[in-house]
Amino acid sequence: MKKVLSVLLAAAMTAGLLTACGGAASSTPAASQPAASGSGAAQPAGDAELVLRYAENQPQDYPTTEAAYKFAELVNEKTNGRVKVEVYFGAQLGDEKTVIEQLQFGGIDFTRVSLSPLAEFNKSLNVLQMPYLYTDADQMWRVLDGEIGDEFLAGMEGTGITGLSWFDAGARNFYNSQREIKSLEDMKGLKIRVQESELMMDMVKALGAQPTPMAYGEVYSSLQTGVIDGAENNWPSYESTSHYEVAKYFVLDGHTRVPEPQLVSDMTMKKLADLDPTFPDIIRECAKESAKIERELWAAKEAESEAKVREGGSVITELSAEEMAKFQDAMAPLYDKLSDEDKAIVEKIKAA
Ligand code: GCU
Repeated sequence: MKKVLSVLLAAAMTAGLLTACGGAASSTPAASQPAASGSGAAQPAGDAELVLRYAENQPQDYPTTEAAYKFAELVNEKTNGRVKVEVYFGAQLGDEKTVIEQLQFGGIDFTRVSLSPLAEFNKSLNVLQMPYLYTDADQMWRVLDGEIGDEFLAGMEGTGITGLSWFDAGARNFYNSQREIKSLEDMKGLKIRVQESELMMDMVKALGAQPTPMAYGEVYSSLQTGVIDGAENNWPSYESTSHYEVAKYFVLDGHTRVPEPQLVSDMTMKKLADLDPTFPDIIRECAKESAKIERELWAAKEAESEAKVREGGSVITELSAEEMAKFQDAMAPLYDKLSDEDKAIVEKIKAA
């Protein structure tokens, strides 16, 4: 694992990805603060001893971004203004893959990402987002809030990145611009955008469709111009990106739940510890607190987004039990590819 990461790190540096950002202690005027709460802005940057950057690829009013502002506010408060966190939303600091690479060498301090692209850096994480793994959200939270979730956060140590907490991102469903999906057969041949993740590609292939990996920010125009027929995501993403305006057929197949870890660069944790040995624990505490807030905001946003896309004319299809079983059967062979260790974790998850 360490070897893979150092190869990736070297590749990223060669590609000049570092040029996109300054050191962690730098403050960029473009840093955006929330309009209403003024959280991150409460402490003038000049008073802080350490100014840190938090990358978020969702828009400013999205649950994960609002929780990031809350995190910034808490950190500022609990470090008595000595640490300031600036939140950059809307992928201002790059797409998720780029942000993860930068986190590894401290170019960016914090982020919240989808597990899918992160699992490309640490394949063992894929086991948490296998198709139809959890019976419902409660089961996923029993897993993530329990020993398994903690072990996975801790397991990131040594990769240059530390896992702090788990955010909710609901269940993902397919949508497309071509036709209503009433059966597995209807998926055949559709060109579906997936996250930059091998597992996601395999899921789409298993259904007889064609996966096209691309960054989140490129999906809208690709749908609009017909480069792809469809994509897959949760309600809030389908709505906030306006994908529903260009891909109106949405099928409730719920093929995966992809949790979203909040992360910190190990180099940042070291800087924080050097400043004050109590700060790393404060960071962990603030991350857990902000995750609680995100989960509440998430539940409200899911309902609101669903209502909005239904009103906007999306065709929402529920699969019959028989067809749902066909989706599940088609993806079942992906479990055979897992290592024995991962198979044992799947068993534990199923029993949770
Ligand atoms: C969700 C997730 C994003 C991710 C996106 C994607 O919206 O919250 O972090 O980038 O899915 O499909 O790429």
